[in-house]
Amino acid sequence: MLRNFMILSMVALSGLQGCTAQIEDTRPGQPVKTRQIAFQEILKTFEPMGVMLRTDGYEPDRFADLAAELMMKREAPWVHFAPDTDYPPTKAQAVVWTQADEFEQRKLAFLAATEALNTAAKTKNKDQASSAYFKAYDTCQSCHDQFKKR
Ligand code: HEC
Repeated sequence: MLRNFMILSMVALSGLQGCTAQIEDTRPGQPVKTRQIAFQEILKTFEPMGVMLRTDGYEPDRFADLAAELMMKREAPWVHFAPDTDYPPTKAQAVVWTQADEFEQRKLAFLAATEALNTAAKTKNKDQASSAYFKAYDTCQSCHDQFKKR
């Protein structure tokens, strides 16, 4: 799902270039843009781990380094979801703010799952790494299903 999503968004992005100008985040401090960049940074560590597992190219040391990097990036988006930040170009659903408790629960599930992923990555055991990875992946997906526009 996430890979399909990525491919689609890449296609969408390249489709945008040259025809429509992207909507700029003109607010002071650019909270929407800042949290989107923070998610992209998370994806830059998360996606290569998934590629390794799916292509049978598991490199234990590199996987562990990526998991450790993810630990440093995983806190970044959340502080930028301030109450009055539901405006274009956000891809967040309004329920982020109306169901804030549930959004918080999803975030905590994500933090727990990435913690477990980092622990599993350190074992350098592929089965443990893989199982923890796909559990973390599910926490991205389940939050996106409810709180992010497609
Ligand atoms: C608790 C909810 C939640 C979790 C967990 C979560 N996301 Fe997101 N994600 C969002 C929301 C909401 C947005 C939309 C942000 C916006 O556009 O304002 C988003 C946006 C994104 C984007 C698009 C950024 C852009 O350029 O517009 C990417 C990529 C992304 N998330 C990747 C991930 C990955 C990978 C994970 C798991 C490792 C993850 N997210 C976990 C809620 C979540």
